[in-house]
Amino acid sequence: MARDGLRPLVAGNWKMNGLKSSVSVLDEILSGYSDDLASAVELLVCPPVTLLHAFSGRAGSAIAVGGQDAHQSVSGAYTGSVSAEMLSDLGATYVILGHSERRAHHRESDDEICAKAEAARHAGLTAIVCVGETREEREAGRALEIVASQVDGSVPDGATAHDTVVAYEPVWAIGTGLTPDAADVAEVHALIRHRLTDRFDEAGTGIRILYGGSVKPQNARELMGVADVNGALVGGASLVAADFLGIARAYLP
Ligand code: 13P
Repeated sequence: MARDGLRPLVAGNWKMNGLKSSVSVLDEILSGYSDDLASAVELLVCPPVTLLHAFSGRAGSAIAVGGQDAHQSVSGAYTGSVSAEMLSDLGATYVILGHSERRAHHRESDDEICAKAEAARHAGLTAIVCVGETREEREAGRALEIVASQVDGSVPDGATAHDTVVAYEPVWAIGTGLTPDAADVAEVHALIRHRLTDRFDEAGTGIRILYGGSVKPQNARELMGVADVNGALVGGASLVAADFLGIARAYLP
C-alpha cells in the first residue's frame, strides 16, 4: 500500500506486439506474481485485442487484463472498431484511452476520449485516461497548461476511483529512455490531483494517477516513490516478464 492509502497499479501496455505464443510471457508474469507482490500491488496487462480472450482466461482473477482503446458506441457500422462492451465480453476489466499514440496517429480529441471513457463506464470497465505534453510543449513552458486541459477535457463528469485512472505520460519520455526528474513528475501529478479533487471532491482523492514513459526496473523505485504517483503504465518493459515484475517489485519494502 502506498503512503496515500491507494492500492498501486502497475499496468503493461503491449501496444501492437504479441502473437498467440506470447501467452508464455503472461504465464511467466503469473508465476512470478508472488503473494507478497500481490498484496503490495495490482497488476494489469493490456495485450492487443487479438489476445484478450486467451489472456483473460489464463489470468483468471490473479491479474487484470484490459484493452488499449474502445469505440464510444456500443455497436454499429464502424468497420474495424471494437466497443467497450466487446472488451468486457472478452474478460477485460480495464481499457487504456487517449494514449498519445492514438491522439497523434488517430487524431483523437479530448471530447472523443471523454465519450469513450463514458462508454467504458457503461460497459463496467475502468478507463485509464492518458494525458501528457510533447517535447515542444514542455520546452515552451506549457506542460502544466496542456496536461490540465487534457485532464479537464478527457475525464468525464462523475468520474470515481472505481471507473477512472489517469496516466501521465510525457510524449517525449515514451520509448526514448528519457524520464522527467522526480520534481517535474511531482509537479504534474500534484496538478492532476488538484484538478481531480477540485472537480470530484472526495472521489478525486481516490482516483489513481499513474506515471508512464520509459519506466524500467532501474528507475521504478524512484519514480514510484514520488508523491501522488500511484503506479506505472509501462510500454516496452512490460513485454519482458522479468522487467515487468521488477517494476512491480518497486512496491516491496
Ligand atoms: P515505454 O515504457 O516503452 O516508454 O512506453 C510507455 C507507454 O507508452 C505506455 O503506455
